[in-house]
Amino acid sequence: MMKRLITLSIITSGFIYMSSCYYDKANIIYPSAGTCDTTAVKYSTFINPTLNTYCNGCHGGSAAMGAGIVLDNYTSVKTYVTNSKLLGSIQQNGTASAMPKGGSKLDACTLNKFNAWIKSGAPNN
Ligand code: HEC
Repeated sequence: MMKRLITLSIITSGFIYMSSCYYDKANIIYPSAGTCDTTAVKYSTFINPTLNTYCNGCHGGSAAMGAGIVLDNYTSVKTYVTNSKLLGSIQQNGTASAMPKGGSKLDACTLNKFNAWIKSGAPNN
């Protein structure tokens, strides 16, 4: 009787122990999984602020470090969308100089959002 009880409790605690591994937290294992919303990406609320943060220290109109490439207004940004240099530079796929120069590559979600905005025609929205 005692032996069966011990066996039973070992099995039971084994189940509890193993089931504690069951609910893996996807957001910890894959930080951006399910949280990257690429629908309705806007120039005004996402593209422009992101360029201001990561790029316009060099590519702002009055900045001297951007080799004359200006990314702080829609019209100019659109030029680099049209010639594919914008996406090529941030995706660092070898078709344009890798950007941001001297910095680390933008995160995957940000790249997906740029891609989605460009695919939707890069609207001035
Ligand atoms: C530290 C300054 C600096 C930062 C920050 C920077 N750039 Fe540049 N960028 C340059 C310079 C200098 C050039 C011209 C020389 C070259 O192509 O490497 C350039 C070139 C480019 C080009 C043209 C590439 C080509 O092959 O014709 C694009 C497009 C561009 N940058 C986009 C960006 C974007 C988008 C960001 C932000 C994610 C960014 N840059 C951040 C300095 C910078």
